[in-house]
Amino acid sequence: MKAVLYHSYGSPDVLKIEEVEKPAVTEDGVLVRVHASSVNPAEWYGMVGLLIARAPNGLFKPKDPRLGADFAGVVEAVGSQVTDFKPGDEVYGGRSGAFAEYLNVRNAVARKPANISFEQAAAVPTAAITALQGLRDHGKIQSGQKVLINGAAGGVGTFAVQIAKALGAEVTGVCSTQNVDMVRSLGADHVIDYTKEDFTQSGQRYDLLVDIAGSRTWKEYKRVLAPNANFVIIGAQKSNLVIGPLGHILKIKLAALGASQKVSFFIAQFNRADLSTLRDMIEAGKIKPAVEKIYSLKDTATAMRHLGTGHARGKIVLVIK
Ligand SMILES: NC(=O)c1ccc[n+]([C@@H]2O[C@H](COP(=O)([O-])OP(=O)(O)OC[C@H]3O[C@@H](n4cnc5c(N)ncnc54)[C@H](OP(=O)(O)O)[C@@H]3O)[C@@H](O)[C@H]2O)c1
Repeated sequence: MKAVLYHSYGSPDVLKIEEVEKPAVTEDGVLVRVHASSVNPAEWYGMVGLLIARAPNGLFKPKDPRLGADFAGVVEAVGSQVTDFKPGDEVYGGRSGAFAEYLNVRNAVARKPANISFEQAAAVPTAAITALQGLRDHGKIQSGQKVLINGAAGGVGTFAVQIAKALGAEVTGVCSTQNVDMVRSLGADHVIDYTKEDFTQSGQRYDLLVDIAGSRTWKEYKRVLAPNANFVIIGAQKSNLVIGPLGHILKIKLAALGASQKVSFFIAQFNRADLSTLRDMIEAGKIKPAVEKIYSLKDTATAMRHLGTGHARGKIVLVIK
């Protein structure tokens, strides 16, 4: 089967399509013929070889040359212990090495939303699970709360705006000029163009701030936080090539010591329950993936360059087959 591999760290030029062995289905596994995947900053960090990515995956070259996490496709075979899927089922989920024609998946797989394409479904797993877990589990979002999403126009942000709205919040999205209309069309009640207006000087107070862009200091964020607000850090600017977003996260955590607001950072976890929750929300018309562009597998490097600009509008998808 074909798969995108990288044997050294570096720019998207290190990505190569190679023939590799098709995975065997395990007793507890589901063998998926992948139709589409999507790109996320995690893949970008792995590819360039941030120090924090090299620690688990090899200091000088990647031990695991596979890339990708999100997938949507069709079940080709199931293991002897699997009773909840059968060949022909349309599924989606998360599994490392998803820039490949086949995946053997164990846990993070669920029935695909029936009302969207494979390309749209592949845009969902990482970004929407991160938004859901950030708002619901770490942000403890409540209906009627004022929620600010800093970084509303990217993969995670476009889902965060819609999920926060679906959960009954009054949502403010922060993005650049070119994305203001899109963020409003996703349901944001208010949109702040960060190139024209400083949201930290708005005089507003938010009950929950989800920080996807990581563009400001704690002192600035604090100005717009209600005394008992939750502040959830999801990401940061890509400027630090050694420890990536960790520098920003540590700075915020340290600066916020002793504050009345609760500051949290988390790493999203794939799981079937959340994939099912998101599927139900998509099928109910409460959220939909915002896909900016679809690339073919041979253009994976171009897709990664696009993501690397830091200005994706929603999700960037790869068609595998
Ligand atoms: N903690 C976790 O488990 C987890 C999971 C997934 C992702 N992440 C992190 O979350 C971050 C975003 O991921 P993503 O998939 O959404 O990335 P993405 O699709 O590349 O989106 C990046 C977005 O950031 C916006 N942006 C850039 N500068 C900004 C600024 N100064 N103010 C506000 N928005 C700004 C851009 O919008 P404009 O073009 O309008 O500027 C763009 O839409 C990354 O750091 C990623 O590593 C964390």
